Amino acid sequence: MKRDNFSGTFGVLVALAGSAIGLGNLWRFPYLVGTNGGAAFILIYLLFVFVLCLPILISEFLVGRRSQSNAVRAFTTLAPKSKWGIVGVLGVLGAIAILSFYSVVGGWTLNYAVKAISMDLLHTSEQVTDTFNSMVTSPFEPVIYMFLFLLLTAGVIIGGIKNGIERFSKIMMPILFVMIVMIAVRSVTLPGAGAGIEFLFKPDFSKVTFETLLVALGQAFFSLSIGCGAVLTYASYVKKSENIVKTSALTAFSDAIFAMIAGLAVMPAVFAFGVSPTEGPGLVFIILPEIFEQLPAGGFIAILFFFILLIAAVTSSISLMEVIVTYIIEEFRLSRKIAILVTLFIATILGTLCSLSQGVLSQIRIFGLNIFDFFDSLSANVLMTLGGLLLVLFVGWKLKKEDFMDEISNSGTLNHKILYGAIYFLIRYIAPIVILTIMIFGLI
Ligand code: PFF
Repeated sequence: MKRDNFSGTFGVLVALAGSAIGLGNLWRFPYLVGTNGGAAFILIYLLFVFVLCLPILISEFLVGRRSQSNAVRAFTTLAPKSKWGIVGVLGVLGAIAILSFYSVVGGWTLNYAVKAISMDLLHTSEQVTDTFNSMVTSPFEPVIYMFLFLLLTAGVIIGGIKNGIERFSKIMMPILFVMIVMIAVRSVTLPGAGAGIEFLFKPDFSKVTFETLLVALGQAFFSLSIGCGAVLTYASYVKKSENIVKTSALTAFSDAIFAMIAGLAVMPAVFAFGVSPTEGPGLVFIILPEIFEQLPAGGFIAILFFFILLIAAVTSSISLMEVIVTYIIEEFRLSRKIAILVTLFIATILGTLCSLSQGVLSQIRIFGLNIFDFFDSLSANVLMTLGGLLLVLFVGWKLKKEDFMDEISNSGTLNHKILYGAIYFLIRYIAPIVILTIMIFGLI
């Protein structure tokens, strides 16, 4: 079977950046910054992104492109008759777990986009909080929206790589960027925004624990979409002429910039409106409607924003679904359509459980967390970090160094020996040691 391909450099970049930039930046990052103490968390996060996670991103890209296969077969192709396929299985499981709770938040976003159209969002603070709480705890509304969100995701990937994923991302990502900058400008110019800016830029390392480090690392993984086969799967559709290091670096850079701007869009407003930064997962859904309330034509901007947020969520969820779909197509020899149906079925069941755990099923606890929070921290803090750890061990210790150098340099056509050597060193030694240490101490 001939495999589809991305058309060129820009297409690959927007797809990877589209996968990276999503609810992780706009929803998860701000609330984690709020609950983990602000600036110190951000600095640690940035350090992790560039020193640890960029090399992992490069490793994952390299494995995908060299093998031109799905997340599991990639490992068995590069290391036949070995047990490394487990890393891929872990990735597919991680992608399923993430897709499940991600679709719930995607559903909230879709719901808010619809609410914005009917001008149902702009109220007083208490009303905004009530709107959010009653929406997420309802047994039907969020489940239906979650399902619609999954359908939207499926609708894009049914078109395949070039005509589905690439075309969609190329149009949507630039629009998203302009929008978030506009909102950040309004947020930092609100009266009382200063305390929020200070919270973002004045680090206090005294409260940093191993758990903070684990959460920051998990967020770096989550935000870059690494450690669960998404980058690997996209990279398996990338041509041999693309520059792996450059594309990976640009992806990490745009993702980090985006997270910073999202922080500036949310935190100053949180302080200006007297909302608690430790509000948790509802933070963005509570704070943004309040910002829009203060804007001229706020109702219109709210509509635009939630649609764009929805699109950012879709450009990420498509990469999650593609991990599972490519795997099913290639391992079970099913058509793309059937593979998508199977994935929809699994994600709908698990997503429904995640959604209901905010309301009627909230008494079910796993390690003290409800199902939604359990899936969220299990995937970011355990599955993805473990996946990333095994991946760098694979690339650093199992794959031959010549193969690594051959792939990263496009068979010797790119000549950056020192850079590639440094990356290899980070992959082989630094990344595994640091990740393992943080995981062990953070989980204890
Ligand atoms: N990186 C995405 C975000 O920040 O919203 C979430 C994500 C997408 C995680 C794809 C993992 C993944 F494989």
